[in-house]
Amino acid sequence: MAKVLIIGAGGVGQVVAHKCAQVPEVFTEIVLASRTKAKCDAIAAQIARPIETAQVDADNVAELTALIERVQPGLVINVALPYQDLTIMDACLATGVNYLDTANYEPRDQAKFEYSWQWAYQERFRERGLMALLGSGFDPGVTNVFTAWLRKHKLDRIRELDIIDCNAGDHGQPFATNFNPEINIREVTAKGRYWDGGQWRETDPLSVSQMFDFPEGIGPRKIYLMYHEELESLVKHLPEIETARFWMTFSDNYLKHLEVLQNVGMTRIDPVLYNGQEIVPLQFLKAVLPDPGSLGPLTKGRTCIGCVARGTRDGREETHYIYNICDHEACYREVGSQAISYTTGVPAMIGALMMLTGKWQGAGVFNLEQLDPDPFMDALNRYGLPWHATTL
Ligand SMILES: NC(=O)c1ccc[n+]([C@@H]2O[C@H](COP(=O)([O-])OP(=O)(O)OC[C@H]3O[C@@H](n4cnc5c(N)ncnc54)[C@H](OP(=O)(O)O)[C@@H]3O)[C@@H](O)[C@H]2O)c1
Repeated sequence: MAKVLIIGAGGVGQVVAHKCAQVPEVFTEIVLASRTKAKCDAIAAQIARPIETAQVDADNVAELTALIERVQPGLVINVALPYQDLTIMDACLATGVNYLDTANYEPRDQAKFEYSWQWAYQERFRERGLMALLGSGFDPGVTNVFTAWLRKHKLDRIRELDIIDCNAGDHGQPFATNFNPEINIREVTAKGRYWDGGQWRETDPLSVSQMFDFPEGIGPRKIYLMYHEELESLVKHLPEIETARFWMTFSDNYLKHLEVLQNVGMTRIDPVLYNGQEIVPLQFLKAVLPDPGSLGPLTKGRTCIGCVARGTRDGREETHYIYNICDHEACYREVGSQAISYTTGVPAMIGALMMLTGKWQGAGVFNLEQLDPDPFMDALNRYGLPWHATTL
């Protein structure tokens, strides 16, 4: 049906390549391009179907444009880093190709992420008759679809939304991040932020916590309030939501190491002079931490990510909880990656499938809650991320 160009050959790129290869009736040809071609080749070697590989600097619009013109894909899946979102969107506009990503744009020199930069492409994509799907990972991504599904099938109005992300897995390392350490640490050390009564409220990083009892034997865990990008699009597209918060679990060990690293300045993103050379401490830290890709064979346990929505249905107060549980070892057996990469890569493939099969169509820039959740929810059950909905 279509040729797809995947950009980024990290943990998530590996899962996207495997999952696209599992659906040959939609993804008839797959090209995987990244900064380091050897990483693309290593992934291609794991997959029985032929995968073409290429080298590209995705910070460079001219290089991207030349690659897209040569490959002529039906869609570009961007699973490089958030820094590359705008250059890849520019290249898609220049070549007339649809676009999908899993994380919103971040400028390198500011630990700040928001949709304004990508929403500013709305008119350009609309005028070109192209579609850009933003944030088709798990959170953002599936959490946006879960919210839209709860609104469509369970509640007439959502008043309060809590998105809760638990990684109950253990990789046995003293300190490691489950996805790109630079992006992960920038996110976790940022101020908390939540939507309350029509305005954003800020909290000090990881200063608000509570216990949550996770289902299916995972049990009670401490969850910490953080800012996460889907809050911004959800309160925009579902303005009825009065309170929206995002919570994540962290092990005591992770928090202890992070505190020390912060205190000694290793999480700084401004350059410092070292032996006559400028280095960014967080980028240096990334270089010495375990590669998230290497955690695949080591990680045991499960993730549980979902949404709790409180609101009304036929005038009655109701609370619904919808979640997915994903097993790290099962993911590794299937695609050679742990569940954090898996839970991001599968929804990226599903978003691509929605666009290429015409189930999701439109001209402009879209977040997932703006589209019909039903075909995406069916695909989650079919392609490895089954979900469960209960009433609390
Ligand atoms: N929505 C969600 O649920 C969710 C969850 C986790 C992650 N994510 C997002 O998923 C994306 C990928 O994460 P990951 O864990 O796979 O990261 P990763 O392992 O660090 O992989 C990133 C890949 O992008 C490549 N890359 C970086 N800069 C590039 C450039 N200028 N040109 C070409 N390629 C470049 C890297 O190349 P090298 O190998 O040469 O460094 C690497 O292969 C990130 O944007 C992350 O924020 C989303």
